[in-house]
Amino acid sequence: MSARALVVGAKGLLGSALLAAGAGRPGWQVLGADRDELDITDRASLEAVILGYAPQVIFNAAGYTQVDRAEAEPLAAYEANSVGPGVLAAVAAECGARLIHVSTDHIFGGPGRTPWQPDDEPAPVSVYGWSKLLGERNARAVAPNTYVVRTAGLFGPGGRNFVDAILGAARRGQPLRVVDDQYCQRTYSPDLAAALWALADARPAARIWHFTNEGGVSWHAFAVAVLEAAELDVNCEPVSSAAWGAPAARPAWSVLALSAWPALGLPAPRPALDAVAEHLRMKVRS
Ligand SMILES: NC(=O)c1ccc[n+]([C@@H]2O[C@H](COP(=O)([O-])OP(=O)(O)OC[C@H]3O[C@@H](n4cnc5c(N)ncnc54)[C@H](OP(=O)(O)O)[C@@H]3O)[C@@H](O)[C@H]2O)c1
Repeated sequence: MSARALVVGAKGLLGSALLAAGAGRPGWQVLGADRDELDITDRASLEAVILGYAPQVIFNAAGYTQVDRAEAEPLAAYEANSVGPGVLAAVAAECGARLIHVSTDHIFGGPGRTPWQPDDEPAPVSVYGWSKLLGERNARAVAPNTYVVRTAGLFGPGGRNFVDAILGAARRGQPLRVVDDQYCQRTYSPDLAAALWALADARPAARIWHFTNEGGVSWHAFAVAVLEAAELDVNCEPVSSAAWGAPAARPAWSVLALSAWPALGLPAPRPALDAVAEHLRMKVRS
C-alpha cells in the first residue's frame, strides 16, 4: 500500500518541484495544497485537509518569501513563517505525520567566513531571517521529530527566481547591476525536491540538514556565470550592498556546510552551474 504525502505551498517554486518529483514516485501518493485550500496559520483549515487525508509525511514549502517586503510587513512574515510552522507541526503531530519543513540560509548573519554547520549559532539580520528562525524553533518545539532543511538561492521552473530575472533583464537590454559582497549558494529546486523526498524515504532521526548546490560565490559572480552559460555577452556591473540599498539587510556570508546526503542514498549535491545548464536546457524545451 502507498504512503501518503501532502505538499503545502504546492503552487510555489519548491512546492511545484516537490509535486513533480512525487508524481509516480514508487510507494507514494501525493496531494498538493496551497493557500486557496488551506492557510498554514489557520488550524481549522489545516485540520480540514490534513485529518481527512491522513498523510504520513507533510512537506512545508509554504512561506512568506519576499525578503525586502517583510521589513514593511513584519506581521505577515511572522504569521506565515513563524506561527504557521508551529500550527502545521501541531496538526501533523495530531495525525501522526512527519513534517519536513524548509528554512533558509538567512537565519545566519554573524561574522564567520567558514561554511555554517547546522548547529552553529543563528544571527538573522532581517525580519525575514528572524521569522524563519522562529518558524524552525516553533515547529521543533511542538513536534521534536520535525525535519528542518535549510536551503538558499532557489531557482528552477515555475516560479520567480534570480536566474530567470537576470536572463530576462539581459535579453530586454536593461542595464545589469548586481551586488558583489554577499556570498551564498544557489539551489536548483528539482535537486532540493529530490533531497527532501530522499529524507521522506530514508526516515532518519530528526535533525537540521543543509541542502544547496555546490559553490558559494557572490551574487555578481553567479550572475556573470549564468550570463556566460546562456551565451549572453553583456556587461554586468558589480555594486556593493550599501550602494544597492535594499530595504532588508542580507547576510554577507551565508554559505552552508552541506549535510551528508550520500548517507541517505543521494549523490552529493552537484555544482550550481551544472544545474543552471540543465535549467537552461529545460527552458529551451518547454
Ligand atoms: N526562494 C528562495 O530563494 C529560498 C531560499 C531559501 C529558503 N527558501 C524557503 O523555501 C521555501 C519555499 O520557497 P519558494 O521560493 O518555493 O516560495 P514561493 O515560490 O514564494 O511559494 C510559497 C508558497 O506558499 C504560499 N503561502 C504563503 N503563505 C501561506 C499560508 N499562510 N498558507 C498557505 N500557503 C501560503 C504562497 O502563496 P501566495 O503566492 O498566495 O502567497 C506560495 O504559493 C520557503 O520556506 C522559503 O522560505 C526559499
